[in-house]
Amino acid sequence: MTTFDDIRDIEAEALPTRFARGWHCLGLERDFADGEPHTVHAFGQKLVVWAASDGTLNVLDAYCRHMGGDLSRGSVVGDAIACPFHAWRWGGDGRCAGIPYARRVPLRARTAAWPTAQQDGMLFVWNDPEGNPPPDDVTVPRIPGATSDEWTDWYWFSTTIEGANCREIVDNVVDMAHFFYVHYSFPTYFKNIFEEHTATQIMHGVAREDVRRPQADSGAPTVLGNTSVATYHGPSFMIDELTYHYSDGDVNSVLVTCHYPVSPDSFVLQYGVVVEKAAHLGDSAPQVAAKMGDFIRIGFEQDVEIWRHKARIDNPLLCEEDGPVYQLRRWYEQFYVDAAEVRPEMTERFEFEIDTTRPNEAWRAEIEANVARRQVAAGERPA
Ligand code: FES
Ligand SMILES: [Fe+2]
Repeated sequence: MTTFDDIRDIEAEALPTRFARGWHCLGLERDFADGEPHTVHAFGQKLVVWAASDGTLNVLDAYCRHMGGDLSRGSVVGDAIACPFHAWRWGGDGRCAGIPYARRVPLRARTAAWPTAQQDGMLFVWNDPEGNPPPDDVTVPRIPGATSDEWTDWYWFSTTIEGANCREIVDNVVDMAHFFYVHYSFPTYFKNIFEEHTATQIMHGVAREDVRRPQADSGAPTVLGNTSVATYHGPSFMIDELTYHYSDGDVNSVLVTCHYPVSPDSFVLQYGVVVEKAAHLGDSAPQVAAKMGDFIRIGFEQDVEIWRHKARIDNPLLCEEDGPVYQLRRWYEQFYVDAAEVRPEMTERFEFEIDTTRPNEAWRAEIEANVARRQVAAGERPA
């Protein structure tokens, strides 16, 4: 007989009220470079982003320290942002750069300027609830393909996810089984490595015969499988060296998946892909990047559909074939505590490879059954 003692309860503490310490990508530089102020809702605040004349992107708190006007609805004047309320000018360093109608600028007229970095076509801001600048050894690695003529430009996508905390997307790092059930892929190898401020997922996959791919009907090369080495550098920025194996050759790409929190229960999810212009692709590399990007978007929509309806859970009930969810969350915790509170177990090296024997047997059987069912439905095989 079942007693209440046997029932596993879902536990979930209140959502964290602070936002992760680290570099967060706000998007592509080119999308902020038009000489206009841009509004960005991030870290529970409103920010203004604009480009100075030399292309440097500035990020300030949007609310003007004079009377609270919204600078992101103001205008760019020279290198400064002018408030729409009384035209006070603010420089990218956060200092008041002038008040057109005043004899003098008040002492200590200074607002919050966010540390920024511009790299490989992207804009990053540094968030630290303790207010410290970014340490020199906490950086985002370069992506050589992003600035190379041998690779395509970014194919970029951005969407806002409401009703979910960004921990949900980070959990994906260790979640092998959902790739089969949610994304219709077939992982054959799956390993995680966590160390310092990085968390890596290594995954090899094969294509599924029971999932109809649009290219199968068009005579285009078919996907045979993929190899992916994806690393989070800090709490929110993942670089995935992703190779798709097609029947006519490999396509090498780099997929960036990143997010920044808007509030404790919403975040902006972005991804971008660049593709190597391999000889066998001819001039079609940009179209390949676009097709890959659109395919990846379907994957995110599949995740979003799950997040929209699921419960937050602090105590997942796991089986042996699940990845190291608890260890991943311990790693992720380092970004939510003060720098002095980061404990060795949050950052020390941890490796775990899932034994895929049993999942692969089960999935092969499921695929065979699906294929048989389809053949029966199509009259290609007796019931
Ligand atoms: S509120 Fe910004 S200038 Fe007055
Ligand atoms: Fe996913």
